[in-house]
Amino acid sequence: MKFKVMGVTAGRKDNNCEILLKEALLVCQEKGAEITMINLKDYDLLDCTGCTSCTMGMSMGKHTGCALDDKDDKKKIMEVLLDQDTVIFSAPTYALMPSSLFLKFMHRNLAYETAFLTKIGAIQPRDRIGALIAVGGSTRSWQSMALECMQATTFSSSFKIIDMYMATMVPAPAQVLLHEEKLARARESGANIMKSLNTPPAERKWLGEPDAGWCPNCHSNCLCLGEPQWRGLQYPIECAVCGAGGDLVKTDDGKWKFVIAANGLARDRTSEEGRGVHCDEIADTQGGFFMDPQKRVAVAEKLEKYKAIKFPAI
Ligand SMILES: Cc1cc2nc3c(=O)[nH]c(=O)nc-3n(C[C@H](O)[C@H](O)[C@H](O)COP(=O)(O)O)c2cc1C
Repeated sequence: MKFKVMGVTAGRKDNNCEILLKEALLVCQEKGAEITMINLKDYDLLDCTGCTSCTMGMSMGKHTGCALDDKDDKKKIMEVLLDQDTVIFSAPTYALMPSSLFLKFMHRNLAYETAFLTKIGAIQPRDRIGALIAVGGSTRSWQSMALECMQATTFSSSFKIIDMYMATMVPAPAQVLLHEEKLARARESGANIMKSLNTPPAERKWLGEPDAGWCPNCHSNCLCLGEPQWRGLQYPIECAVCGAGGDLVKTDDGKWKFVIAANGLARDRTSEEGRGVHCDEIADTQGGFFMDPQKRVAVAEKLEKYKAIKFPAI
């Protein structure tokens, strides 16, 4: 059976993100995959309303779906997307992070948490992998949260990200076509995807640049000082993306390195087990609120004051 590979982009039509994505997909096609590609600009996509009916349903073991299911194209896309072995995402960098269209689409993934949908039999179990391509007009300095934000939005669909590529310094329309090395790197992403798909799931590894990023777990370039997490777990330093915990250590050649602690992957957001702890946290904090009538009444009373305040709007 052919591997199914889908490309999802949020870039301008016929421009840099689309071109790099197509280069990667062409390699997958040459190596026998069945390809689908969409540009999110072609679809009607609404913002998550924040109603949390999806997570409330999940915490009670019920499949509520998304409150917007019959109001836009998200569900139609997800039915195809979750039936893929791989998705390659490409997004333009706006203000250091992926564009709002990409984020709008991906934030709606919460209602499609694959661990939950698989558990209740709504979708087939699958070892999904993914690759990310971020495109920007500047250097990495001005794309500092692009790949990190992209990766963070893939967790709830359990895509194991095996490669990430940041195409820098291509601000103008289709300008990437002047850079053969960038097109070649995108093709390498396609080749990495096919190599990974042809590897037994348990043995699939990171295939991007070996030393990419600070975090040896998710390869993000984004570390922060640790603070107490839910139920007190704390590390000196955390990866802001996957949540790996550890500390900075100076190597023999005088460079700093992020070393993950022995228990540093206890809440690894790239794993379903790690995210499970966060589900427990939500059940505790959100569920604890909804199940306690006293808390709900107290909030309703205090809220009246704020509802009555009306500042001039535009
Ligand atoms: C609103 C806006 C904000 C942008 N912000 C950044 C930025 O912070 N960093 C960067 O490197 N490029 C930035 N860019 C440049 C785009 O990332 C760049 O044009 C890219 O090639 C767009 O991809 P596309 O051709 O696939 O649409 C910005 C562009 C726009 C329109």
